[in-house]
Amino acid sequence: MLPRHLAIIMDGNGRWAEKRLLPRSAGHRAGFRRMLALAEHAFSCGIEYLTLYALSAENFRRPKEELDALFDLLRAYFSEQLARLKENGVRLRVIGDRTLLPEDIVRMIKQGESLTAGGTRATLVLAVAYGARQEIVSAVNRAVEQGGRQSMESFSALLDTAGIPDPDLIIRTGKEKRLSNFLLWQAAYCELYFSDKMFPAFTNRDLDRALEDFSGRKRRYGGLSGGSR
Ligand code: IPE
Ligand code: IPE
Ligand code: MG
Repeated sequence: MLPRHLAIIMDGNGRWAEKRLLPRSAGHRAGFRRMLALAEHAFSCGIEYLTLYALSAENFRRPKEELDALFDLLRAYFSEQLARLKENGVRLRVIGDRTLLPEDIVRMIKQGESLTAGGTRATLVLAVAYGARQEIVSAVNRAVEQGGRQSMESFSALLDTAGIPDPDLIIRTGKEKRLSNFLLWQAAYCELYFSDKMFPAFTNRDLDRALEDFSGRKRRYGGLSGGSR
């Protein structure tokens, strides 16, 4: 079975570049190109929801120069890819703390979300300036403002990912085996797949292998036979 919702922690751009004696920004550019191709591939395989972890809230600790290079890639993404997403029926959602981002990028995000809002074939979720703990605390504060008690369902609807099903598979490239503050609430029963390949070197074929691996897994959700929840 294919995951309905695939998420990718796109890690290893910097090390990929450093190994080639290139600046880290070159690694981010190569990762960006790989991301475009992988997203096309994932959607053509029939993935309905694809979440890409592009920038964490904690990444704002990095030097300004590297952040500026990442912001430029985001600008390029929004100015070059939106028409294509719309054409392909892909709806864009962006999760994360927008107050951390430059104003022009926030504007581009809003435009992109409204331009593609009618897409029904698939959903692309970009996690930008995203941190799961921050997301949960914001949701708690919203719940307090609303008053009353929450259920798991009503609380989920207060998160940035409201309306998006939980991820079925998270792939992390770049050799590290951790979640780095990604989808902590949503990943409660998610399958995890770790690849030693740096993100710019993670091919479409590598994605196929991860999907094959997922299709052989038994999900039990705490029960005995698995299958449904
Ligand atoms: C992932 O690559 C992209 C971002 C976090 C923005 P890294 O930049 O973390 O690359 P490494 O882990 O240093 O190789
Ligand atoms: C995780 O990568 C975040 C993204 C890929 C956007 P990091 O490189 O920031 O993670 P750590 O610092 O190694 O945990
Ligand atoms: Mg990293």
